[in-house]
Amino acid sequence: MSTKHLEKRWWHDAVVYQIYPRSFNDSNGDGIGDIPGIIEKLDYIQELGANVIWLSPVYKSPMDDNGYDISDYRSIAPEFGTMTDMEKLLYEADLRGIKIVMDLVVNHTSDQHPWFIESKSSLDNPKRDWYIWKDAKQGGSEPNNWESFFEPKAWTFDEPSNQYYLHIFSHKQPDLNWANPEVREAVYDMMHFWLKKGLGGFRMDVINMIGKPSDFPDATIFDSGVAGWEHWANNLLCHQYLREMHDKVLKHYDVLTVGETPFTNTLDGRFYSHPDRNEISMIFQFEHVSIDREEHNAVKKDFDLVQYKEIMSRWQEDLYQKGWNSVYWSNHDQPRAVSRYGCDSGPNRIISAKMLATVLHMMSGTPYIYQGEELGMTNKHFSHIDEFNDLMAKFHYQKMINKGVSEQTAIDFLNDFSRDHARVPMHWDGSDNGGFTTGKPWLPLNPNYTDINASQALLDHDSVYHYYRQLAELRKGEEYGEIIVYGKHTLLDPQDKDVYAYLRSFGEKTLLIVANFSDQIQKRHYSGQLNYHVLGNLPDKVTDLSRLTLLPYQAFIAEITL
Ligand code: GLC
Ligand code: CA
Repeated sequence: MSTKHLEKRWWHDAVVYQIYPRSFNDSNGDGIGDIPGIIEKLDYIQELGANVIWLSPVYKSPMDDNGYDISDYRSIAPEFGTMTDMEKLLYEADLRGIKIVMDLVVNHTSDQHPWFIESKSSLDNPKRDWYIWKDAKQGGSEPNNWESFFEPKAWTFDEPSNQYYLHIFSHKQPDLNWANPEVREAVYDMMHFWLKKGLGGFRMDVINMIGKPSDFPDATIFDSGVAGWEHWANNLLCHQYLREMHDKVLKHYDVLTVGETPFTNTLDGRFYSHPDRNEISMIFQFEHVSIDREEHNAVKKDFDLVQYKEIMSRWQEDLYQKGWNSVYWSNHDQPRAVSRYGCDSGPNRIISAKMLATVLHMMSGTPYIYQGEELGMTNKHFSHIDEFNDLMAKFHYQKMINKGVSEQTAIDFLNDFSRDHARVPMHWDGSDNGGFTTGKPWLPLNPNYTDINASQALLDHDSVYHYYRQLAELRKGEEYGEIIVYGKHTLLDPQDKDVYAYLRSFGEKTLLIVANFSDQIQKRHYSGQLNYHVLGNLPDKVTDLSRLTLLPYQAFIAEITL
């Protein structure tokens, strides 16, 4: 049996901070965040304790999906800066011990990418086969019944060449044909181009969708997610391409790779991340963000902590020494964590934001912090569909209206789940536009920036920011680093619907993590002797596990002896 899984890798104890460049910090007053703006804030990220930045796309793009539609993989979007700025960012980050992970968006390109323009230009163009073109079915309909995430159908008809092309996302994001070896070589070349500049790795956008079965069969599953996923998600082709990518590119660099992979279970998690399979370091799974909604569908469900705990602990246990987890509460596609799982008003905002951080950062795996999460930023309130920017919000709205849902109900759904909650600009201080820009922000800010902002948080030792900093310190520290990163995970009281409690153990050491997810006092007891109260989100230290009175949203970490 191999022991390779025990080999330590630098990204095992990493803490990743995600930046959505458009909304992070604007250095030149045009209302759009940019790379020089990021450089200005590197100290802020370093002090937080993050040592990796995942940068959402900064490549040249028509920005139909805010950069996830790339028209040139080797240049920087002018609104974000220049290649020199990007190189300076790498250099300045390196000085602070921070690695930069870029987004790799290669399931699709923009329809403005020269590859697609050529491909579209004629049936016999050498790049015709770089994308997925198909004849209509008898009668002229789409080649199959697959759906798109952003539009009703995954196929768009091209009149001049009399064929359809495939797009799992918008029609401005045509899917690349990974079955063509020239496409794969072009992607690998581009990856070398960036890695040679000293990149710390890649976050791979919807990487589990790159394998398309050559017979393009009809979908049969219409009740969960976007129809077609049964054929294009996590298939053998995808794993084969990833192993080839590893062999031709990744094995030559010591990098972090994280695949964005909806529709995965823990077995898929092991397939992608077991080190002996030579694919990628870890994946983002979606099970836990699909509890209170149908992921990528406009359907709300009730949040159930019992289910949440079952999912998280299953991932912790099933990948233990057989792969690697990534753990996250939010990102640029999700609503704000404190609004979704905690309480986003009054004093409980800060307490519950810290509670959520405690639960996540004491888990095994690599934690990801989404910009503003460390301030406890909240969802913004939208009143009208015109206030949204995101194309998915508009699509979901239309879908709901078409189903006969009222306008208000549709807006209510978006107020819970729109991706724009995470995409409104970052709050730096209490001045106009939160110090994000001196101009007109591309998307209006959440007006609560006057109370919730970075300059306030830095000054206040009890802020969410400083709590995140302490959690990152624990993960990197002598005392608890090993147990937090490599310890075994055991869920306690799985049926408890208000309190999330689990153990971490490594050698002789045991940590108990307890978090009250409710706004009520909860009385609980846990076995074991409390040796040391490591950290908590309330001033009082916990002393006796046999008689605990947990205040609303209280959380703590204790070293115990069982
Ligand atoms: C991923 C990205 C999302 C984007 C989509 C298409 O899900 O995270 O923002 O819209 O892929 O590239
Ligand atoms: Ca700018």
